[in-house]
Amino acid sequence: MRAALTTPELETIHDRLRPVVPDVEWATFIDDVEAIHRLKAERDAVVLGHNYMTPEVFHGVADIVGDSLALAREAQHVEAGTIVLAGVHFMAETAKLLNPGKRVLLPDLRSGCSLAESITPDDVRALRAAHPGVPVVTYVNTSAAVKAESDVCCTSGNAVRVVESLGVEEVIMVPDRYLAQNVAARTGVRVITHPGACEVHERFTPLDIISLRAGHPGVTVLAHPECPPSVVAEADFSGSTADMQRFVEEAHPSRVALITECSMSDNIATGHPDIEFVRPCNLCPHMKRNTLGAIRHALETGQHEVTVDPDLVAPARRAIERMLALR
Ligand code: 13P
Ligand code: SF4
Repeated sequence: MRAALTTPELETIHDRLRPVVPDVEWATFIDDVEAIHRLKAERDAVVLGHNYMTPEVFHGVADIVGDSLALAREAQHVEAGTIVLAGVHFMAETAKLLNPGKRVLLPDLRSGCSLAESITPDDVRALRAAHPGVPVVTYVNTSAAVKAESDVCCTSGNAVRVVESLGVEEVIMVPDRYLAQNVAARTGVRVITHPGACEVHERFTPLDIISLRAGHPGVTVLAHPECPPSVVAEADFSGSTADMQRFVEEAHPSRVALITECSMSDNIATGHPDIEFVRPCNLCPHMKRNTLGAIRHALETGQHEVTVDPDLVAPARRAIERMLALR
């Protein structure tokens, strides 16, 4: 078992962060970065980090990073005894559902999500009762209790594929009304929705993109599908955070704007000094609770463990596994 980062390893992290983290700020991170690496080794833990983590978490301490779909897939294969989920509560629950033998820690229990909070199991039951026989597709940004009422889950990375796989003309798609409308536009499948929205993405407007294009000629605009359809319509491409990253790496636009959470651009920009990232971003306060200090505290104290009601495990897991079975 290794006790600490070596000096060259620490310098490699610093080099990666240099384009987005000033040296004076890096100096304030070193102690936590070193402690987290030592604690991960001592406590047999790994850190899974969502793409919206700040760069010092994303590049500095996370072992596995990705969008919601990638984190769910990777969580299944974690061998370490403890998973620290640097993300939000529903992601920690998903990891626990998919790898129940592991201890899953969320650094700050206040890391919620406006989508997950917008819907209850009763809401899903009411929609089913009002639309008998219509399948329920539930975004992973929900509690295990809501997933347990669902036929299949989806993420922003596979929502179109999941809906198309059902081979039906109509679905109940909850809780993000914008994601549902964007999927309806792409698939032609009618969607019955719920009035949920992401508090980060619903704030973008078509005018934001129009002004961006006027101020930054030639900019390629990528919008997350949690944005309203009027925003997605103004963009050049729409996809999950991992889809956005792939797009940037493959198309290599000289100037790009990611219409999503702020840290996304920073995390990709570190590897692409030749691309200009225009940053009309919004912050997710829930994701931002995963500071280095909070992650260190989670490893030191074993707080906060996320568990799932045993009665919900089988039905919630079934809906997630049905999604993961689709390639
Ligand atoms: P993805 O990373 O799956 O695109 O999700 C974005 C998001 O808002 C997660 O909370
Ligand atoms: Fe929820 Fe939006 Fe924050 Fe993601 S970015 S956790 S969808 S509030």
